[in-house]
Amino acid sequence: MHADVVEKNGRLVESFLPLREVNLDAIIEVGFKGLSKEKRQEYLKVFRVKPMVIGPRLRNLHTWFARRPCSTARVLTLSSVVKPTVQRDAYLEALGFSKGISVAAREYGSALLFYAKPDKAITEKIVREHASKTPADVTVLDPMAGGGSIPLESARLGFRTVAIEYNPVAYLILRASVEFPAKYADAGLFEETLKAAKMFIQRAREELGQYYGEDAENYIFARGVRCPFCGGLIPIQGIEPIITKASRFKKRFLKITYDKDEKSFSAQTTDKPILAGTIAKRGNNIRCPYEGCGKWFQLRGRAKSGVTAFDQWFHEHAKLMESIVEGFAPVTSEIEEKMLNLHIPLVKQVGNTFHAVWDDESERKKFVNSLHALSNELLELQSFIPLDEISLDNVWASTARSKNLSKWYMLYNPRQLLVIAKLSKIIAETAEELASKNGEFGAAVATYLALALDKVVDYNTIATKWQGSTFKTGIGNTLRGESTLDFRKEYVEMVTTLPKRSLEWALEPDTAESNKLTKTTGGVLPVLRFLCDEFRGVNVGSYVNVYLGDATQLSTFLEANSIDVINVDPPYFEQVIYSDRSEFFWPILRRALAPVLELLFKPNLKLKNWTWTSPTVPREREVVTYDKEDTQGRFSKFFKEFIKETSKVLKEDGVLTLWFTHPTAKAWRVVSESLYENGYVVPKVWPLQTEMKTRYKKQVNIVAQEMSLVIIGRKYPRQKLLEISPQDVKGSLIENPLFTKTVEETVESTRKVIIESNASPADTAALMFGTALSVASRFELPIGATFQDLYDVAITAVVSRYTKPLIYQILTKTGPIKLEEKTAQKIAKNIAQGMLLDPATRSYLTLWLISRVDLATAKIRQEPLGLHFDLVQTVGKLCGFGINDLKEYSLITEKKINKTGKAYYPQFLEMLTLPGGQTYLDKLLQVAPGMATILARMAMTESGDPTARANTIKAKMSMYSDRELSSSAALAVILLETTRDQDLGYKVTDKTKITGYFSSMDESDIAKLVRELAIKTLTQLIF
Ligand SMILES: C[S@@+](CC[C@H](N)C(=O)[O-])C[C@H]1O[C@@H](n2cnc3c(N)ncnc32)[C@H](O)[C@@H]1O
Ligand SMILES: [Zn+2]
Repeated sequence: MHADVVEKNGRLVESFLPLREVNLDAIIEVGFKGLSKEKRQEYLKVFRVKPMVIGPRLRNLHTWFARRPCSTARVLTLSSVVKPTVQRDAYLEALGFSKGISVAAREYGSALLFYAKPDKAITEKIVREHASKTPADVTVLDPMAGGGSIPLESARLGFRTVAIEYNPVAYLILRASVEFPAKYADAGLFEETLKAAKMFIQRAREELGQYYGEDAENYIFARGVRCPFCGGLIPIQGIEPIITKASRFKKRFLKITYDKDEKSFSAQTTDKPILAGTIAKRGNNIRCPYEGCGKWFQLRGRAKSGVTAFDQWFHEHAKLMESIVEGFAPVTSEIEEKMLNLHIPLVKQVGNTFHAVWDDESERKKFVNSLHALSNELLELQSFIPLDEISLDNVWASTARSKNLSKWYMLYNPRQLLVIAKLSKIIAETAEELASKNGEFGAAVATYLALALDKVVDYNTIATKWQGSTFKTGIGNTLRGESTLDFRKEYVEMVTTLPKRSLEWALEPDTAESNKLTKTTGGVLPVLRFLCDEFRGVNVGSYVNVYLGDATQLSTFLEANSIDVINVDPPYFEQVIYSDRSEFFWPILRRALAPVLELLFKPNLKLKNWTWTSPTVPREREVVTYDKEDTQGRFSKFFKEFIKETSKVLKEDGVLTLWFTHPTAKAWRVVSESLYENGYVVPKVWPLQTEMKTRYKKQVNIVAQEMSLVIIGRKYPRQKLLEISPQDVKGSLIENPLFTKTVEETVESTRKVIIESNASPADTAALMFGTALSVASRFELPIGATFQDLYDVAITAVVSRYTKPLIYQILTKTGPIKLEEKTAQKIAKNIAQGMLLDPATRSYLTLWLISRVDLATAKIRQEPLGLHFDLVQTVGKLCGFGINDLKEYSLITEKKINKTGKAYYPQFLEMLTLPGGQTYLDKLLQVAPGMATILARMAMTESGDPTARANTIKAKMSMYSDRELSSSAALAVILLETTRDQDLGYKVTDKTKITGYFSSMDESDIAKLVRELAIKTLTQLIF
C-alpha cells in the first residue's frame, strides 16, 4: 500500500485491536451458561471484575437467528473511526473497558462490556482529536443489521447510526432495540410500556384464565391415533413410563390402562416406579396395546402402504381446525370428542410434579370450552387468526406442509389458537388506543407487547417440544441449529395466564420495576429498562434511523459518498435462511400490530415490491444460498451487488468492516472476488470470537472453526507489480520481490494475531484465506492475469511462508532429532520450495502438521488430532489438492469417531501397508508425499551406515533427478521428525534386523535410533 495514503487515512482497526480482551468479553457475552470456569477466572484476572453471566440481554427482546456480541461490535466501530495515533488508555476508557466496567460491577456485582457505558466525553475527545470530527458527524451504517448489536453499540458511542434490514421481523426488532429507546427514553417509553404490560397481563388473565385448570402450569399432550385393526385409541407420546428424569422435578410415573371394550384408556400418575411403557415399538412401527389385538402397524416414516398413523393424525387435525376456523362448523359433541381423541391432554405440570388429567372431568371441560369459545367468537377473532398459507418457498416449514398443515393456524390446538387470537386482539386494541393518543410513541409501546406475545406463541404450538431432561423449548429456540420444523410424539402447551410464568415471564414487569435487573429470567421489560436507562438524557434520538430496505440496492435510498463506517455481518452463505424462520412470527406480529403497521412501516419502507400487508416476508433478493456450493450462483450474484453498493455509499476515506465465517473455499472466493472487483484493498483481517461452539462441534471432538473473521476494506490505491510475464503469470508472481516481501510482512503480522487470539487450526486455515486476500487486494492485476490467478498465487505463497519457520523450529528444537542450523535451513528451504511448487505437498503437509504439531508452539502432539471434514476440504481446496485427490493416493484416511462423527487423519508409513503391491507403490511414486514416504522407509530399512544407505537409495531410484530426490527427502525428514514412535512400526518382538539386534533395548530407544539413522541418510540426499 502507498505509505503516504495510509499515513493520512489509516485507522486504528488496520493495526490494532485489544484482541485478548474483546475475545474474552465476547465469549462470555454469547456463552451464557455453557462457559468454563477457567474462562471466568481468566476474565477476573484481566478485568479484575467478575464476568456477568446473568442480566438483561438484547436477545431477550425477541429471537433473532444470528446475534453477534455487542462488545465486539462496539470495539470494531470505534476502532474504525479513530486513527492509530490515539492513546491506548483513552481509547480503552472510551470503550468502557476500565471505568465503565467497574461502575457496572458496582451496580450489578459483576460486569461485562455490554453493561458498561462507553465514556461519552472521552469518546468525543478522541474522535475530535483523532478523526477531526464530532461523533455526530460520523455516520455508521449496518445494512444487514438483524438483531441490532452493531447499530445499538454505534448509537451508544454517540455516532449517527443507520440500520437496514430486508426482513420485517428484524426491522421491528431493530426499531425496538435501538431506535425507540434512543428516541423515546426521555418521553417515558419504559414507564408507559410497563403500564401497558400490566394491563395486558391483567386482561389476559380475566379473559383466558377460565380455560385452564386452576393449578396447571404446562400440559403435555399425546397425539391420539386409532389402531387400524381393533380401532383402539392409542396416546402417542414418549413420557411413559417416566415423565421426566430432570432433578428439578419429582420423579413421577405414568400408568396407562387400556379397556378393550371401550376402545379407550385411562391414565394415572404415581410415585411408584413403573418399569416399562405400554406401547412396544420397533423402528417406525408400534404394537397395539389393546388386549386381544397386539398387532403391529406403522406409526411414522414413509408409508409402506396407505398412510401412516402419524400422517393420519396430522391430516385429521388439519381437517378439524379447518372445519372450525374456515368452515364455521358448529361444535357438536362429535367434534368435541374428535378434538379430545386427537389432542389428548395427558398430564399437567403443577410446581415440581405432574398429575394425570385425561380422566379429570373439569380439565376436559375447560379444554372443550376453549373449543366452543373459539367457534363462538370466531367473527370477532377472525382477523387475529393466522389464516395465511405457509409459503411453498419456505423450506424450513416444508415439514409442516408435507404433513398437510398448509396454513399457519394449523400449528396450534384449539386452545392455543384461541389464546393467541385473543392476546393479539388485546394488543391490537391497545395499539390503536395508544397510537391515537401518541402516534408513533404509542405504536412503539405496543410493539414490545407484540414481541412478548411472540415468545409465548413460541412455547405454544403442536411442535413445541417436551425435553424431559431439561425443559421445553419452543419453535424459536429450536430454530437455532435445526434445519426444519420438527414434530415429535408429544407436545407441550404453556398456560399463559399464570403469575410469574408465560406472559408475565415474557414481559417481567416486577423485575423491571425492582431495580434488580440481574434477577431477570429473560423478559422484555428488564432489557427495555436497561436500554432506556442507557439513552436517557443523551438526546441521540434523531441520529438513529432504521429502514426496511435492500442492502443490494443501497444507493437507491442512501446518498453516494455519505457513510464513514460500514460495519456489517452479512448472512454466511447457506447457513441460515432468515426469511424462512422469521415467517413463523410474521403472521402473528402483523395481526397484533395491524392498526399501527402503517405507522411503523410506511415512513421507513425502502422496498419496492413488498408492503406490510403482505402475508409473507420478502425473499426475492435475500442474500443467501440454498446449498454449500451455491450451485445457482445466487449468493455470489447478490453478494457482489451488495459489496458494489457499499462502495458507492462509502466515503473515499470510509472503512468497510465485514464479518465473515465460513469453512469453504467457495465462500471465500466469492467474498474475495467481490471485494477486489469493487476496489477494496484489505489491510487487515482479524479473528474474533462471536458465537458459542455449536452443538455439533462440541459433540465431535475435532477441530472446527470457532471464530469469525473480520475483514477490513479500504478504498486505497493499488500498487503495480513490475516485470510480470503474461506467458507465465504465476511463475513470475512467485518470484516477484515486491510480491514476496508483501507476503512475508503480511504473514508475519498474521502469525502474531494467531498466537494472540489462540486461533484453532481451522481458524488458522480461514485466516490463511484472509491473509491471501489481504496480499492480493493490494496489487493491480498484471496483464494477462485474472483475480483468481493473483489470489491462488497469494494463497500458495502465504501457506508456504507460514509453515517455513514452523518447520525450522521442529528440525532444530522441538523434534526428537535436533539438527544443526545449517542442515535445518537447507531442509526447510527445500520443503518451502516443494510446497510452493507442488499442490499435493502443500495440501498434505499442511494437514499433516495440523494433525501432528501444535502450530503455536511447534511441539509434537502425543495424539494426532482428527480433522473435521470441512477443514480438510478447505485446506485441500486452498492448496489446490482436494480431499478426493488426497483419498485417491491414500494420503489421508477417514475414521468413525462416534455415531455421527467422522475424522480425517493424514497418513505416513501406514500408506505402505495397504494392499495392492507394486501397482500401488507405482501410484504412490506419482505424488511427492508418496515418494517421500517410500524414501523414508528405504532410509529406515536399507543396510549399512547412512552413506551406504543413501547410495543404495540413489541407485534404486536412478530414474529420478537429484532435484526430485532432494525435495522428497526433505519432506521425508520432516515427516520422520513429527511422527510418533509407535507409528514407525517397530515392536521389540519383531525379529527385524534392528530389533533383533537390539533386543535388549526398549521401543522408544529403538525408534530414536532408527529415526536418527534414517534422517542422517536422507540428509545426504538433500542439497
Ligand atoms: C448474520 S445476520 C445479522 C445479524 C446481526 N449482526 C445481529 O447481531 O443480530 C444477516 C442479516 O442479513 C439480512 N439480509 C439478508 N439479505 C438482505 C438484503 N438483501 N438486504 C438487507 N439485509 C439482508 C438477514 O435478514 C439477516 O438478518
Ligand atoms: Zn389394535
